[in-house]
Amino acid sequence: MTESVLKGKILTFFRKNKEQYVSGEDISQSLEVSRAYVWKYMSKLRDDGYAIDAVPHLGYRIRSVPDKLFGYEIKNGLKTRTIGKKEVYHYETTDSTNNRAYELAEQGEPEGTVVVAESQTHGKGRIGRKWVSPKGGGIYMSLILRPDVEIDEVPSVTLVAAVAITRAIKNIIGINARIKWPNDIFYSEKKVCGILTEIKAQPGRVDFLILGVGINVNTTVGKLPAGSTSLKHETGYPINRAQLMRCILEELEKYYKKFRKEGFASLRPECKKLSSVLGENVKIKEHHKVVKGKAVDIDSKGALIVKDNKGQRRRIFSGDVLLKG
Ligand code: BTN
Repeated sequence: MTESVLKGKILTFFRKNKEQYVSGEDISQSLEVSRAYVWKYMSKLRDDGYAIDAVPHLGYRIRSVPDKLFGYEIKNGLKTRTIGKKEVYHYETTDSTNNRAYELAEQGEPEGTVVVAESQTHGKGRIGRKWVSPKGGGIYMSLILRPDVEIDEVPSVTLVAAVAITRAIKNIIGINARIKWPNDIFYSEKKVCGILTEIKAQPGRVDFLILGVGINVNTTVGKLPAGSTSLKHETGYPINRAQLMRCILEELEKYYKKFRKEGFASLRPECKKLSSVLGENVKIKEHHKVVKGKAVDIDSKGALIVKDNKGQRRRIFSGDVLLKG
């Protein structure tokens, strides 16, 4: 049993016994490990930030749980088959969870592996931008996926993820966030989430895909760039990050499965419904070109269709969208 699995089992045992004290003997019998092991792992959990009372003749009781995205917390009650069911690598801090996940994918880690950090020193955004990743508030996570897709389908995987995250935000927090094509999630006209998809590919085919997700959950807005907000700031109350992350993994699995079975076409209507861009006048910077017009559709590959001022339909694959109202 790995350290993480054993910690998870001990915590599950406590949860089953609700607020009651449980004896070291009961834990050791139930998990079939020695008393010495139980003692050692209690001490490790304390080091992780769990407040554990120990009373002679009564046993142990957990008084409080740290606000951390440990793998064994995320896996607790996670209803998925693959996503998050493999290893969850947790870092207090790292340069970028996408970098860690990319290295792990190159070493052969399977689809569904997750890397999560409490903070990032060089969080990456799209087009060489940085993703501000302060400690104690955000979700910074990267997921290894190995879909059997061609390179031109990668943007649609990003949109599938955006739909899943928007749904998870609705499920847990009850607010209607919207997808700002191609990879942002906005609430009340401010950014709460960004997705950075990186790939390793052969000519024509994708080896693996790293889906990097950054969400401003409980982050103090003053620490974020202009135009951003956090879910806590918008709702007025702190959000349980582990619960939100679990729901995101569950929704991701659901939508990704549908995508692999039926293709993006099956998710396109939902993606269009959640879009904040369709029907709007937009100005889009795509590389060195600027396209102006009305966003009228998202096509079967996830490209944005803009009707320009001459009435021509233009297919945009990536870029920054400015809503012109
Ligand atoms: C963007 O809006 O430009 C995309 C931001 C993506 C940020 C996430 S945070 C977790 C993962 N690790 C990174 O370095 N970036 C992504």
